[in-house]
Amino acid sequence: MTNIGVFDSGLGGLWILKYLERELPNYNFIYYADQAHLPYGNREPEEITELSSKIVDFLLEKDCKLIVVACNTATSASITKLREKYPVPFVGIEPAIKPASELSKTGHIGVLATKVTAEGQKLHDSIEKFASDVEVHTVIGYGLVELVEEGKGDSDEAEELLRKYLEPLLEKNLPTGQAGIDQLVLGCTHYAFLINRIKKIVGDKVNIIDPAPAVVKRVKQLVEENNITPSNNKKEPEIFTSGSNVEKVKEFFNNL
Ligand code: DGL
Repeated sequence: MTNIGVFDSGLGGLWILKYLERELPNYNFIYYADQAHLPYGNREPEEITELSSKIVDFLLEKDCKLIVVACNTATSASITKLREKYPVPFVGIEPAIKPASELSKTGHIGVLATKVTAEGQKLHDSIEKFASDVEVHTVIGYGLVELVEEGKGDSDEAEELLRKYLEPLLEKNLPTGQAGIDQLVLGCTHYAFLINRIKKIVGDKVNIIDPAPAVVKRVKQLVEENNITPSNNKKEPEIFTSGSNVEKVKEFFNNL
């Protein structure tokens, strides 16, 4: 039996799982949502590594041959240590600084991320490597993960918070002659579920970069390189949570 494990602190990684299911239809996926411990974004990196290790142990027991860390925060805090500790290949998710910098015409890109990701070394390094020609405006999305988990990703409450974080980056709100962002990087998988309100705020002059296709591409490469063959007994993804209501997580996934 060959499975691919996918995990996140909660519902955010289901966005990635949906893509993976579509693009690798013959593989079986196991998803773990660590809802009892979210938000990861406000925790210490060491704690996130401990939590992530427990999830990886669980996924390995379930015969996962490759693990997708479908969480920017856990990738930032822990993927290096996970790769050192475990013999399986890992695919992480990181804010898409490179494509955003390449696409930007105004020379300003926005990154909306959790505190851990925003302040982490990984983001710092990729800005240095890929964004030396543009100005990167990083904003921490305090409270947004919780709203998505409560099913309020498309609510006025979410919009109000998003306005506070994003409006200062937009040209229309800056003094005349100053350019605003024209690329917005969603640096947390939960934020995909805020997309309607984000689009309403930033309008169609700002391009929003979806990180899921890059993750799928890397997973495809690694299954090939590691000879991870598809299952001959295709099943629906198996979904687990450390929270109290796995049915709710499954329903959320099925509605995507
Ligand atoms: N989905 C996680 C991420 O991509 C959310 C983190 C959290 O629990 O704060 O960063």
